[in-house]
Amino acid sequence: MGAVEKSERLTGGRIGDWFATNLTPNKQTGLGTWSEDEVVSFLKKGQNARMVAEGPMAEVVHNSLKYLTDDDLTAVAVYLKSLAAEASAISTASPVSFARPAAATLFVNNCGQCHGPQGNGMRAATGGGPPLRGNALVVAPDPTNVVRATVGGLSGHFGRFPMSSQLNGVTAQQLADIINYVRTSWGNDAPANVTPAMIFAMQAKTAPQ
Ligand code: HEC
Repeated sequence: MGAVEKSERLTGGRIGDWFATNLTPNKQTGLGTWSEDEVVSFLKKGQNARMVAEGPMAEVVHNSLKYLTDDDLTAVAVYLKSLAAEASAISTASPVSFARPAAATLFVNNCGQCHGPQGNGMRAATGGGPPLRGNALVVAPDPTNVVRATVGGLSGHFGRFPMSSQLNGVTAQQLADIINYVRTSWGNDAPANVTPAMIFAMQAKTAPQ
């Protein structure tokens, strides 16, 4: 009926082709490792050293949050950090197996020059991408964010360079393997649940008309 499910409050959810991040202090998928300053900076500038706002969240920053005073943003950050850590109660696709060493090579060759060979991110000013390691957008239990970003590309928000579709030069199976590798490497502990079918479905939705 559109009512808020109280038990799942602020633990994230699907919005179109994106999965809104868990805002409770969960250390893996939420704000558990973020400082209050990092929360404020994200709400005000759409990014911090950990991730960049994409999709509907980028619009929320552009159209409203960036106009809040620092005191109000700090109040939001203090409140979010005071919540109990929760996991998202959503059903997700089951994990699949993939060839990890081959996926690691594909990652370094296709993503490493912009996101770093260990997913640590590279300087934004020279076209680098945000870190993929410890990035709440990347490790959401529902993998749709990474599928949407890599298949549809990103327009370049908040002074970042754009990222073109990464489905050029790799097959849907290879891109699924890369994403499963990113979701399960360098301390990222998300399910490896991306399949070529998800890549094709996103391609059909995001292809230029
Ligand atoms: C030519 C440089 C380049 C390459 C190659 C590249 N990216 Fe990106 N990536 C970027 C930039 C720049 C952004 C930020 C764009 C924005 O925020 O609008 C980005 C953003 C992202 C994001 C969103 C992160 C966030 O915090 O919002 C993900 C996920 C991502 N890239 C994954 C990948 C994967 C996986 C690959 C390899 C298949 C890849 N990228 C290849 C430059 C690149």
